[in-house]
Amino acid sequence: MLQLYLKLRETSLKICAPLGVEDHNLQPMPDASPAKWHLAHTTWFFETFVLSQYMDEFRPYHPAFRNVFNSYYNSVGDRPLRGLRHILSRPSLDEVHAYRIYVDEAMVHLLTLELPQAAIELIELGINHEQQHQELIITDVKNGLWTNPLRPAYRVRAGHASADDKSASPLTWHSFAEGVYSVGFEGSSFAFDNEGPRHNVFLQNFRLASRLVTNREYLDFMRDGGYSNPLLWLSDGWDCVRNNQWNAPLYWEQRDGDWLNYTVEGLQPIRLNEPVCHISFYEADACARWAGARLPSEFEWEVAARSRPMTGNFLESDALHPQPAQAADGVAQMFGDVWEWTGSAYTPYPGFKTAAGAVGEYNGKFMCNQMVLRGGSCATPQSHIRATYRNFFPPHVRWQFMGVRLANGD
Ligand SMILES: [Fe+2]
Repeated sequence: MLQLYLKLRETSLKICAPLGVEDHNLQPMPDASPAKWHLAHTTWFFETFVLSQYMDEFRPYHPAFRNVFNSYYNSVGDRPLRGLRHILSRPSLDEVHAYRIYVDEAMVHLLTLELPQAAIELIELGINHEQQHQELIITDVKNGLWTNPLRPAYRVRAGHASADDKSASPLTWHSFAEGVYSVGFEGSSFAFDNEGPRHNVFLQNFRLASRLVTNREYLDFMRDGGYSNPLLWLSDGWDCVRNNQWNAPLYWEQRDGDWLNYTVEGLQPIRLNEPVCHISFYEADACARWAGARLPSEFEWEVAARSRPMTGNFLESDALHPQPAQAADGVAQMFGDVWEWTGSAYTPYPGFKTAAGAVGEYNGKFMCNQMVLRGGSCATPQSHIRATYRNFFPPHVRWQFMGVRLANGD
């Protein structure tokens, strides 16, 4: 676990390496947090939930940080408004780095001791928590840099995001038989509380597309008047389209008649064979309806995914951008590339109970007004994802790496 911890902490800094000091404090919207805040808050998590409880005579780095870097834990105490995290020009970035080193030294010491199971579980939670924030650093920085009219790139290099547009494998349909399936996590390895308890569900016959919807297919939806036909949209979705004047995915812009796409490597021509990305639940749902299909339920997705290898385009591939589907036996691209919107509302599984104490606030209290996404993205660390993993966001959100796979009845 010591090695896992050290690697984790190094990865967060590596993600921030291309950023200047000012970039670390960008907060383009309340949903996105400054990279500096992410670096401090993930450190706060280990300090508050692990070191303060399990290390004798541990002294916090700074007594005020307990509140300043709290995100949403009411049981821990007060915190600054979420949309005002950018006002934390102090502590400086250097001091946040010093805070990380202070906590790392204590954690390294703690990890050499014999620890109770409860402490080990909290450290595992802290590691998985920081992995979630690693993905958020990338998506939040991307949004912050894109908001700048200069459209600066997160990094400049001839990387995967600017690679040739390899062709995508043809879309085929895979059938799954109706029946009672066990879904949800069961086992002794780490999983979030919202992935269980394992339970039975009945699924009708269904079919799942062999790959994600591509930019080419999404452009067909756009050119067919997708954004101007209210009959394709949920009522809330249509309001969202009108109020925000959406006519394309987030980060798309038209220049001289051509569509460009803002990536971590700056503005690039749209690559038709890549999966469409940065669309809301509403857009995913409307596009599926236009295609004569629907979104998969989260359980249909899980049943199809669990026999698939957990390989794909993750953070480790360093593309930080979805890639065209390659031919595979069975359904492809289930893991990595983009989080896949499902038609399932984020609600508790039968028998779900929140954990005792502050960490009980981690997932359970958000089970309202959000939809489930599955499979991880090109910004998700590979070791973070599972077939039972449930991500969740409100239906209008687009700044995560989010896309769509079609499903249908038999
Ligand atoms: Fe957090």
